[in-house]
Amino acid sequence: MSCLLHAESLYGVIGHPVGHSLSPLMHNDQFQHQGMPSFYHAFDVLPQHLEEAVQGLKALGVSGFNVTVPHKIEVMQYLDGLDEEARLIGAVNTVVNEENGWIGYNTDGEGYVQSLLTKTGDMLRDADILVIGAGGAARAVISALTGHGAKRVTLTNRTFSKAEALQERLAERAGIRALPTEEAEKETSSFDIIINTTSVGMSPHTENMPWPVENLKPGCICSDLIYNPLKTKWLQEAQKAGADILNGTGMFVGQGAIAFQKWTGIHPDTERMHDVVMKQLG
Ligand code: ATR
Repeated sequence: MSCLLHAESLYGVIGHPVGHSLSPLMHNDQFQHQGMPSFYHAFDVLPQHLEEAVQGLKALGVSGFNVTVPHKIEVMQYLDGLDEEARLIGAVNTVVNEENGWIGYNTDGEGYVQSLLTKTGDMLRDADILVIGAGGAARAVISALTGHGAKRVTLTNRTFSKAEALQERLAERAGIRALPTEEAEKETSSFDIIINTTSVGMSPHTENMPWPVENLKPGCICSDLIYNPLKTKWLQEAQKAGADILNGTGMFVGQGAIAFQKWTGIHPDTERMHDVVMKQLG
């Protein structure tokens, strides 16, 4: 590492906890690959220190940073502006130091849809899509899906009122309906794509499944945002039942690749980013 590292070559992620974040590995490998004298660090920032941390990064003049749990919503008040998608989602995961100030973006949903598109191609617009969950991840995913022209998105959640509230929040995007879980389950065979945005099935509770695998539509794509484990029990069972499956590594790499591009203006080698992450997880 050069001792001539300038502040504008510094990047990072603020979150709590961030010890297990794969972002430093993925971005630092890419900086090295691109021959850039830049560095990315994971900063563990407690909620009560968020404002100081953001002001500190601004004062130092870094080029940008990522924001992760639990700061994605709170960070917005310390920024100078929000991109349209981040405003709609109501959360920021990427901050860029731009000419007109510190601007917040949300690259999670777009990163996810980029990975989904590799499976669906053109059929995304007309696909019948079921999204399970109504938290921040669901918001990002649905917003990006509809932004890409998806016309039929059904939203279901354990707590139905939250699904209704999310439908309301995204009302400016057409084609979203909220359905109670029991009713959505009866329609399982009609969905072309089923996306789990909840933590159901995540390590250490790997036995749990977010959706039944009976009655899947032939050719259905079952997609889990989880990547720990790489193949959740639900994805394993869905695959056995004939579904095409997609895990959450593509979303993680995708969100990072878009952030990298926004900060540096350079298209990263996403295949390499994916390989680095898989090597670590595998
Ligand atoms: P994130 O930002 O990752 O989406 P979140 O905002 O806390 O996290 O949302 C978590 C989502 O997972 C919610 O939709 C939650 O359902 P509730 O709204 O009913 O809480 C869902 N979820 C979490 N644990 C669940 C479980 N055991 N069964 C079903 N849904 C669950």
